[in-house]
Order: sequence, then C-alpha cells, then structure tokens
Amino acid sequence: MADKRTSIIVCRCEEITDEEVRKAVKEGATSVDAVKRVTRAGMGLCQSKICYLNIAKIIHEETGIPVSKLIPMKHRIPVRPVKIGDLDN
Ligand code: FES
Repeated sequence: MADKRTSIIVCRCEEITDEEVRKAVKEGATSVDAVKRVTRAGMGLCQSKICYLNIAKIIHEETGIPVSKLIPMKHRIPVRPVKIGDLDN
C-alpha cells in the first residue's frame, strides 16, 4: 500500500506534493528557500503564506532541524513590466 502522504498537496498555489518536497530535502535542499528553488513550492500567488509551515515541517521531519531554526523564506514582491516612458513622470 502506497504511503498516503505522497499525494498530499503541501503547496496549493503550485500544486506541489509532500512527496516532491521530501524528495528535494533528501537530495540536499535543507532550507525552505532551497526547497522553493528546486520544487517551486512557495512561489505561488500567496508567496508561501499558506505553505511555509508545511514545507518547514517536512524539512524538520526529514532532517531533525527544528522549525524555529529554519531561516524564513525570502519574499519577493510580484513585479510587473513597466514601460520606460512611464518612469519619466
Ligand atoms: S500555497 Fe504555496 S505559494 Fe501559495
């Protein structure tokens, strides 16, 4: 019987599963930002407001690093293209 956790979505915005995050951690992504770079978890519309703790908990379970010791994920403000002429006002 397959592990029920494998198909659980941990990042709803990017539809990243528990299995994908665990695989990234086992391959060396031991920070939330590293998991984000490998899997895209946390890069969605909510910018990890919903999934941060899910990802941190999985890293804790796989590595033993306390969630309180994990460096918070870097947030970037969504950027939209702006015409050069619009900057001259
Ligand atoms: S739930 Fe992960 S970025 Fe929104």
